[in-house]
Amino acid sequence: MARLWKIDPVAPEAAILARAAAEIVAGRLVAFPTETVYGLGGHALDTEAVRRIYQAKGRPAANPLIVHVPHEAAAAALASHWPDEAHRLATRYWPGPLSIVVPRRAIVPELVTAGGATVALRVPAHPVALGLLRAAAVPIAAPSANRSLEVSPTTARHVVDSLDDEVDLVLDAGPTAAGIESTVVDLTRRPLRILRPGPITPGELSACLEEEVLLAGPLPEGETARSPGQQARHYAPRARLEIVAADRLAPRADALLSRGASIGIVTTEATRPLSLADPNRIHAVRLSAVATEFGAGLYAALRALDEAGVDVILVAEPPATEAWLAIRDRLARASSSG
Ligand code: TXA
Ligand code: MG
Repeated sequence: MARLWKIDPVAPEAAILARAAAEIVAGRLVAFPTETVYGLGGHALDTEAVRRIYQAKGRPAANPLIVHVPHEAAAAALASHWPDEAHRLATRYWPGPLSIVVPRRAIVPELVTAGGATVALRVPAHPVALGLLRAAAVPIAAPSANRSLEVSPTTARHVVDSLDDEVDLVLDAGPTAAGIESTVVDLTRRPLRILRPGPITPGELSACLEEEVLLAGPLPEGETARSPGQQARHYAPRARLEIVAADRLAPRADALLSRGASIGIVTTEATRPLSLADPNRIHAVRLSAVATEFGAGLYAALRALDEAGVDVILVAEPPATEAWLAIRDRLARASSSG
């Protein structure tokens, strides 16, 4: 069983950070909050600790980890080349929900980068994450603290639900703010590409770099995945998830109910009230119509509906705007059967 320590999310107690940092340095696994989701942290330069991260998650060895550092200089120290674009993005968006892929320096274990020549680096903004990184004074590899293919955790309880026996310590600072994993941008080839959409949008990155940053599309035939974590099916709840246009929600729910299925519905405050034949038989979750707030609540909603035991989760289709891009990406993956 994991130890669970409460920690202040705004002004984390130095003594708790110091004890948690000592665990990291000693090679143990510590789950901690970031501004996106909870991470499963281990000493990034300690191959044995990194091996335990993969083992804990049941993560395929081909899927590289993001390395977290306390500031830009620490990131540059892990790169064989720190391009001007990286400096501009770091200046504008770090600390923050942006992971930057650059050529790796040899001190980064191959296990971290899944044998690849690049490494993803990020300076997280959460005071607990930053405090832990400063206290540990070593880079921390941290994937989301869930089992591979599960929905990412946005609370300490989610971490314990997923990884209780695999993690040594969980720092509980309450729910995370963004709720959606960081944007991953690849600076190692042209055109520049976003490998995983996230809180920082393509438009923001393009404006910062004064150069168009594209979204990675489908892979050309024969090319291996650039961000191997981006399989079609990912971030999936246990229930089957369907994305449904708002005006189709009620008829779809009624049809599923009439076949005896148990249903959850996720709508927003902008969704018109649904006229359902039997509203009492439906688990309804209403989230904000503001994309950032919807993102903050999405994974907790999916986990709650799974806990309620529903067979199918219907989600009102979000707007096709850039603000909703990362959410649409996660919903598409969660609904994919591939
Ligand atoms: O918000 C986040 O990024 C959270 C918090 C804990 O920081 N972490 C996170 O890590 O989501 P993870 O391991 O669940 O997802 C990392 C993603 C995967 O899609 C992985 O394939 C990609 O980043 N990635 C990591 N290193 C890479 C690299 N060198 N090149 C391309 N993609 C990489
Ligand atoms: Mg993950």
